[in-house]
Amino acid sequence: MKTSKDIRNTYIDFWTSSPRDHNKIPNVSLVPNVDSTLLFVNSGMFPLAPYLSGEQKHPLGTRLCNFQRCLRTKYDEMLEIGDNRHTLMFEMMGNWSLGDYFKKEQIPWMLELYVERFGLDPRRIYVSVWAGDELVSRDDEAINAWVKAFKKYDVEAEFCEDLQNLPESVEDGKEHKARIFPYGKSDNWWQRGEAPGELGGPSSELFYDTGVIEREQDEYHINDDSGRFLEVGNSVFMQYKLDEDMQWQPLKQKNIDFGGGFERVVMCVQDKNDIFETDIYQPILDKVEEISGKKYKTEEKENEWTASFRVIADHARASAFILADGVLPSNKDQGYILRRFIRRLVRFGMKLDIEKNFTKEIAEKVIEHMEDVYPHLGKNSDVILEQIEKEEIKFRRTLKKGLKELEKIREETEEIDGNKAFYIYQTFGFPLELTLDELQVDEERAAKIEQDFRIAEQKHREKSRAGVDKKFKGGLADHSEIVTKYHTATHLLLESLRRVLGDHVHQKGSNITAERLRFDFSHNSKLNDDEVRKVEDMVNKVIEKDYKVFKKALPKNIASKLEAQMEFGRKYGDIVDVYFIVDPEAKYDKRNPNIEEIEEDKIFSKEFCGGPHVENTGKLGEEGMKFKIFKQKNIGSGLLRIKARLE
Ligand code: ALA
Repeated sequence: MKTSKDIRNTYIDFWTSSPRDHNKIPNVSLVPNVDSTLLFVNSGMFPLAPYLSGEQKHPLGTRLCNFQRCLRTKYDEMLEIGDNRHTLMFEMMGNWSLGDYFKKEQIPWMLELYVERFGLDPRRIYVSVWAGDELVSRDDEAINAWVKAFKKYDVEAEFCEDLQNLPESVEDGKEHKARIFPYGKSDNWWQRGEAPGELGGPSSELFYDTGVIEREQDEYHINDDSGRFLEVGNSVFMQYKLDEDMQWQPLKQKNIDFGGGFERVVMCVQDKNDIFETDIYQPILDKVEEISGKKYKTEEKENEWTASFRVIADHARASAFILADGVLPSNKDQGYILRRFIRRLVRFGMKLDIEKNFTKEIAEKVIEHMEDVYPHLGKNSDVILEQIEKEEIKFRRTLKKGLKELEKIREETEEIDGNKAFYIYQTFGFPLELTLDELQVDEERAAKIEQDFRIAEQKHREKSRAGVDKKFKGGLADHSEIVTKYHTATHLLLESLRRVLGDHVHQKGSNITAERLRFDFSHNSKLNDDEVRKVEDMVNKVIEKDYKVFKKALPKNIASKLEAQMEFGRKYGDIVDVYFIVDPEAKYDKRNPNIEEIEEDKIFSKEFCGGPHVENTGKLGEEGMKFKIFKQKNIGSGLLRIKARLE
């Protein structure tokens, strides 16, 4: 079996040898050292932005490669941890062409690397390409390059628009021709963030057929959430930059930005169906087994402990790496994320009945296992071990306080409901499961407490998320009340424009200040007076009628089926937030809306969005305010810019 060490060396050797002749560049701290909207480095290209944009020449030339430690920490991403393939901490293998070679070299090299060097079966490989839109046409160059590249391995690969044209099994895949599938903005356009200066471009991803469906779906395609096809590499053809008006402009140079998740590649090469069974995580799992006396799997099948083992293995690596980069547990930014990781370690340790302090021992294992590649782990081991244990001890104490508080509330009121359980969780970090254990209530009562707890949690999350989201999205300047109102007004404007002018209207950019909103969209000419009035009236009517605004987190494939509006060029995750603006007369469960229950004509608007928004459109009409368009400008390429305000 190829070890992860072999695979690591193979990767660097492949890119640094002739005819590729790349230089290996050092990897950087997880904590961005430049002014950034991101809390942690989440892709290998992060430190390369000035070189990709052509502003600076890289001292090591135009062909670069490396491994970069990365961390993704959004709430939805955190929820995914526990299955067989998602991790928050990972290493990204990267290669870059800074205005040097382009697609026709990159694509065959990718296949050569994965097939000849890593030893993957080319018949189990499928790829996605950019489907095309108004700005950038379909990537035929990539399609042709893939067809040719596959031919080298006697695989007759064909481009296919029908995304569901898949082989039944790995075996059937041997003769399957359809291998190159087109995807649009949400899947095959990559950009780091959403702010002027950010770089982006169409991409082409490589998928490996594991043959195993982890999650049943209605329809399958290579980029679904079923777990069968694993995304193991992404070449971004980085050639655009967002200007001050959030419009994509071509860059001076055409770049390649490749990123591949190392752990996933190791999983495929080692022929495992579980990322945690690779030799990357095995020593950590062994240690957890030793400490807990529990088994990671039973007769090779997942058991009740498996998910907790996985969370611990991932979070222990994340915590050790964050600490090694100089972050200490605290209540804000990176320190808060670290604290959450450590708390979750303790909490999931508890699920394995680990009562003693154990995070230090696990962190020791991480350091021992990774320090040859990341010597800074070894150098900082004292701090890592001291801090992780200190935080654990503190948290165990708060857990104890939580227990006491629980006792007190029970003595005073005798009844713990979901809100109180959430209060104890929120204040003392005392998990709901433990509260329920203590109460020993029957199943029905437990379900009710849990439901109320989740509602309280959701409300809290919406509040605190607004703060964290700001870090991730450069687009929105601040979250003051008026800005929030303009954000909702933007959704009303988009939908009204679509209803008055037609379905060709799509959002192409937006910018909000405390004084006005600015909105760019696809439309060829200025609106006449009649159209302006119709749009304004429609927006004002929704404001007057006080429509309800709420958000649902939905799997992306379901959200797409709803035909919710997306903004051009945004990369959306597997779970997306969709904001709905709904007629107050609609009948549905307001506390937990089921979209299918709501009559179509009662939904005014649905849009993918990170928020924040007002809860009711009536807020926009406070103090007699009315929505008014005060400026229009044709900004070229079939785009119109509107400025509007509440006055
Ligand atoms: N920057 C690209 C990614 O993160 C390669 O997928």
